[in-house]
Amino acid sequence: MPTMNLVPVTSGDYRRIAERKLPRALFDYIDGGAYGEVTLRRNVSDFQRLAPRQTVMRDVSGVDTSTVLAGTKVALPVALAPVGMCGMFARRAEVQAKRAADRAGIPLTLSTVSICSLEEVAAVSEIPFWFQLYMLRDRGVVTEMLERAWGVGVRTLVFTVDLAVVGERYRDTRNGIAGGANAWGRFRAGLLSYLSHPRWLVDVGIKGKPHLFGNLSNYVPAATSVLEYREWVESQFDPSVTWEDIEWLRGIWKGKLIIKGVLTPEDADSAINAGADGVVVSNHGGRQLDGVASSISALPAVAEKLVGRAEIMMDGGVRSGLDVFRARALGASGVMIGRPWAYAVAARGEAGVVKLMEAFKREMVVAMALSGATRVDDISADNIQGPV
Ligand SMILES: Cc1cc2nc3c(=O)[nH]c(=O)nc-3n(C[C@H](O)[C@H](O)[C@H](O)COP(=O)(O)O)c2cc1C
Repeated sequence: MPTMNLVPVTSGDYRRIAERKLPRALFDYIDGGAYGEVTLRRNVSDFQRLAPRQTVMRDVSGVDTSTVLAGTKVALPVALAPVGMCGMFARRAEVQAKRAADRAGIPLTLSTVSICSLEEVAAVSEIPFWFQLYMLRDRGVVTEMLERAWGVGVRTLVFTVDLAVVGERYRDTRNGIAGGANAWGRFRAGLLSYLSHPRWLVDVGIKGKPHLFGNLSNYVPAATSVLEYREWVESQFDPSVTWEDIEWLRGIWKGKLIIKGVLTPEDADSAINAGADGVVVSNHGGRQLDGVASSISALPAVAEKLVGRAEIMMDGGVRSGLDVFRARALGASGVMIGRPWAYAVAARGEAGVVKLMEAFKREMVVAMALSGATRVDDISADNIQGPV
């Protein structure tokens, strides 16, 4: 008898449910990547080529997945990556994700372009979260957002550097959400698509309002729709940013500073020399420059360059606790996950993200136990047999 699929377990399960629940343009916005989506696929498939080296008959009665990530105590070496516009996928999704992250014992990274504001998310609990920043042309806005973040208890800033220009995702173009659609196209992508997803329409479309970019609404008072915000934000991305701007940022940000979006040892080195505490090896989940190396294949060289000098994280293609183990073995202190939590929150809200993180933890425990590792620090390159 085929499986009944009553209980979602994996990232893939939540993805399938999210695909049913969300209007097509929103699902594709999460699921898609740049151009031919080569890097998007490679991010996932390169993980699967890494065979763990099974090691048995060790005392693994007390496997502990907890560790410290960018100064934050975590139950497993995972942080929820910044995912923009999440509040369009589930009702006040960033708030739900914060509650889930608290329950799972991991940090949420709130995106600059989140629907819920820093203040709305901070009201959930006393537990600090991380904040992701895009450099905007108006440095006054940047400074004020950082003051707001500090004021609500954020102490880890993730500064994203791989969006000097916005990579084109053809699914967004085809669906009309990147602009260019005529009136009929906008009707199909908007109202018609919403009406054919009535549960989403009521739960998120109506009850989930306001759909503003919560962190930016003070600065773009005239914008009334997410699309108008998007246009403003994209016109604000500053393509002239260089490592000197990191030094400026370092001067005004007193907490941890993590640079997200480097793929080479040289760039990682520049980030640390500019004053950052760490990096996230990332290609933005295959959403920017299609064809670049997968993050997991780029990780070892960066780790070798920075070892002992900085926090090294990675993201892109992590779909299970086994992948977290693999990343750790190749030199990351931890990972970020993007799409998996976006699918889970879209599919089942806070409970979905909690359940997914429980599955990640169970998978990681098994990987550690059958590698003879009882502590996260025990995981090393010896635990991987090599690409197969
Ligand atoms: C729908 C979506 C929105 C994203 N928005 C942001 C963002 O606002 N800021 C950012 O730094 N990265 C953003 N990212 C990139 C993620 O933080 C992360 O790098 C990527 O999703 C990791 O790959 P994965 O989805 O395979 O886990 C976004 C990714 C997705 C899928």
